[in-house]
Amino acid sequence: MDPTDGSAVTTNSKKGSALVIGASSGMGASLVRQLVDEGYAVGGVARRGESLAGLAEELEGAAGRFVHRTHDVTDAAEAPGLFDELVSELGGLDLFIYAAGIMPEVGPEEYDSEKDLAMVDVNLGGCITWTNLAARLFHTQRSGTIVGIGSIAGDRGRKGAPVYGATKAAMATYLESLRNRLAERRVRVVTVKPGMIETPMTEHLDQLMMPVSAERAAKEILKAARGGLLEVRHVPLRWLPVSLIIRAIPSFLFRRTSI
Ligand SMILES: NC(=O)c1ccc[n+]([C@@H]2O[C@H](COP(=O)([O-])OP(=O)(O)OC[C@H]3O[C@@H](n4cnc5c(N)ncnc54)[C@H](OP(=O)(O)O)[C@@H]3O)[C@@H](O)[C@H]2O)c1
Repeated sequence: MDPTDGSAVTTNSKKGSALVIGASSGMGASLVRQLVDEGYAVGGVARRGESLAGLAEELEGAAGRFVHRTHDVTDAAEAPGLFDELVSELGGLDLFIYAAGIMPEVGPEEYDSEKDLAMVDVNLGGCITWTNLAARLFHTQRSGTIVGIGSIAGDRGRKGAPVYGATKAAMATYLESLRNRLAERRVRVVTVKPGMIETPMTEHLDQLMMPVSAERAAKEILKAARGGLLEVRHVPLRWLPVSLIIRAIPSFLFRRTSI
């Protein structure tokens, strides 16, 4: 934690309570903005305290309120205490979103275990650490919604992203298990599979295929969280048929593509 941590109370009105892990930029920050604008009490966690404080400043006067803490999701020992503290400050929890993730550039001839295991720690380890805390609470209270931001990159083993894709595939399987486990407790578990979204994560890429803004992605993520048949939701939805086609390509052909 650092001195930029804070509890920016803007109003007493409360529509619900949400916790966003990976709230300092991109889709996580857009989700915070939309939820606070709607009147939610929102907790946000990330490493960059200044970005969280900037977001809190931006949201002063909005319908809801934003409390935030700096935290590295690879610090599993710190997570349970922080979770309890934030849930208490928010006055309960209805919606949990795991949006933290890293995707370092990996060269075609690079096999760097340090870089690869860092992705496992954040994208998968952090997800399990934090989502288990929300799952336990929602199991007990018999309500709540869990959203995990995976990726279409987890649908196939791509040349360009061996471990990034593997972390997203594992995340999808973990979330499916939680969904099956928590269904009888009336807990909704949504796996979001974004396509190309314009965020700091993708700004180094020369060109994005069919990109959409983080704001639009956040809107669609919240819509999926609130209902509908699709608990595995491609964002935007037009990536669903693309994903189905990509999954159907036989391996001997897929390895010749540059996808
Ligand atoms: N953009 C796309 O096209 C795309 C497509 C598919 C899936 N996704 C997934 O969408 C999610 C959100 O990414 P984004 O595109 O919005 O990118 P982003 O702007 O880079 O957001 C990533 C978030 O994760 C947080 N984070 C990273 N490492 C962390 C750590 N060790 N501890 C705590 N927080 C950490 C970052 O905060 P700090 O740096 O402040 O810690 C930031 O808030 C990621 O899981 C990503 O894999 C993105």
